[in-house]
Amino acid sequence: MQFTPYSGGRNRNIADLFRNTFTDSEGVEEGNLIHDLARALLETTPPDDLRVYIAEEAGFLCGCVVFTRLRFDDDPRRAFILSPMAVATVHQRKGVGQSLLQNALEDLRKEGVDVIVTYGDPKYYRQVGFHPVTVETVPAPLPLSMPGGWIAQSLTDAPLTRLNGPSVCVPALNRPDVW
Ligand SMILES: CC(C)(COP(=O)(O)OP(=O)(O)OC[C@H]1O[C@@H](n2cnc3c(N)ncnc32)[C@H](O)[C@@H]1OP(=O)(O)O)[C@@H](O)C(=O)NCCC(=O)NCCS
Repeated sequence: MQFTPYSGGRNRNIADLFRNTFTDSEGVEEGNLIHDLARALLETTPPDDLRVYIAEEAGFLCGCVVFTRLRFDDDPRRAFILSPMAVATVHQRKGVGQSLLQNALEDLRKEGVDVIVTYGDPKYYRQVGFHPVTVETVPAPLPLSMPGGWIAQSLTDAPLTRLNGPSVCVPALNRPDVW
């Protein structure tokens, strides 16, 4: 399995991976929602605000994680939000997701990113260093329907202290139904 930054040319392939994986785990409606979200993120986000990493084997796409900038205008730290992420159903629970994330986080750390935030299952993301945060510590760009899923980590040696909001997400994430 190879883990690499994605540099374009396979947007449709990636959106299909999200559709198929989320359809298997959460049903057709969620599959379509995440497909459309992934497509919009890839197609409308300015390159400077987008980082995508893929896992592939023999040319086949097995996993993908998308990061987009989360801007805090009153804070000098650089933050990205991880959303969405998927590992193809047949490749799940073999460590692909964790390796994909570890490689991506290391790359972002080297680039100088300070904080990564995501909105997901704390039990899964704890394994790669995320821990629950409040919206007082990390202001969310839109109201959270499940505040327990708001998790983050510092990529630097400094502990994660309060980020001065408000925060602004990229346009493709600026829709209440995904929060
Ligand atoms: C969640 C997901 C990305 C994990 O990728 P993966 O390659 O299967 O995960 P890994 O093999 O690296 O890690 C496996 C461990 O993570 C945990 N884990 C895996 N999937 C989990 C899940 N959905 N919820 C909680 N813990 C999970 C388990 O502890 C598992 O270890 P175990 O098999 O020994 O019990 C993948 O299962 C997936 O794409 N699921 C469907 C879409 C999804 O939920 N995406 C995340 C949105 S926030």
